[in-house]
Amino acid sequence: MATQDELKKAAGIEAAKLVQDGMTVGLGTGSTVRFFVDELGRRVQEEGLKFTGVTTSVRTKEQAEGYGITIVDVDDVDRIDVTVDGADEVDDRFDGIKGGGAALLWEKIVATNSDKIVWIVDESKVVSTIGKFPLPVEVIPFGAGQVVKLFEKKGYKPVLRLDAEGEPVRTDEKNFVVDLHLERIDDPQGLAEDLIHTVGVVEHGLFLNMVDTVIVGDENGPRVLT
Ligand code: 5RP
Repeated sequence: MATQDELKKAAGIEAAKLVQDGMTVGLGTGSTVRFFVDELGRRVQEEGLKFTGVTTSVRTKEQAEGYGITIVDVDDVDRIDVTVDGADEVDDRFDGIKGGGAALLWEKIVATNSDKIVWIVDESKVVSTIGKFPLPVEVIPFGAGQVVKLFEKKGYKPVLRLDAEGEPVRTDEKNFVVDLHLERIDDPQGLAEDLIHTVGVVEHGLFLNMVDTVIVGDENGPRVLT
């Protein structure tokens, strides 16, 4: 049986086939995307592939630049041809949850400016109803405690994400992340509306009606769903 990492790697390698010379490519964040960027790096070095990357985190930027991939700021491109990113959960409508790696804000900005969005996941991420994975919400530090209290009142079961030292995790924008332990989300659109209109919330990890293709690493090889 393949390991989860092998399934992630297979999805990442499959997605790298979508990248061609001259493209502008959004590079997501996470362990699955790491495999994707490794494969692009191999193609850059062995096949002379030339493309421009727009990254969704400092981590991915450092990895890509290590391979000599040209990285530009999202504000310096007209449009991104395709963005390849991971996900924490995805349902059969291609709605999903992101932000397990705390990069949801930059990921959503890059995705919003992309012509095509491809998610790469191992089969464990494919679900019938999203919400088992705690939904990340990025909040500004000022008044974050009040936002947590409000979420508690609403029954969202919020937990401020802490690092190994017990300090609040900081995103690349230096914000906090609050994870909502909802177990299931029956009305993602309604929840998204509520969250985005909460003062202090910068962005949430619900990615709805955005994704074009999902590449699933499973035992029989990568499955491309469109
Ligand atoms: C980071 C993300 C990641 O793409 C998501 O958490 C999936 O990560 P992994 O590929 O490591 O399972 O949204 O903010």
